[in-house]
Amino acid sequence: MALYSEKVMDHFRNPRNVGVLENADGVGEVGNAKCGDIMKIYLKIDRDTISDVKFETFGCGSAIASSSMATELIKGQPVSEALKLTNRAVAEALDGLPAHKLHCSVLAEEAIKAALKDYYDKNGIAYDESLFPAAHDCDHCGV
Ligand code: FES
Repeated sequence: MALYSEKVMDHFRNPRNVGVLENADGVGEVGNAKCGDIMKIYLKIDRDTISDVKFETFGCGSAIASSSMATELIKGQPVSEALKLTNRAVAEALDGLPAHKLHCSVLAEEAIKAALKDYYDKNGIAYDESLFPAAHDCDHCGV
């Protein structure tokens, strides 16, 4: 069996939503200190809905595929749904990632959450802190 699914290869070769959004309503940037990969997510939010989303990822193929899939999953969704996106859902939508690459999908979840938190902070919207746990520590899953 191939190490990477067709979907991973497709989103790696033809990533969706790559780029920068000027005047984004929320921007989130996260990195994994161990592998050095960095992911940045830009959100446009209209009436509580993700009207547009772009990403820049400096990282491995799985991180690029995860960013691409994660942006597709939240585009057009209400903020409340985007907040529920998990790295598992991203990996499942990609038809799986190898175990040692699951942390790449964690970056996507964290970057989206960081961008949503930025949106809340910029707009003075109150939120439950537990929605935004401290950054994932990859020592636990191993890079
Ligand atoms: Fe670091 Fe994939 S995000 S190896």
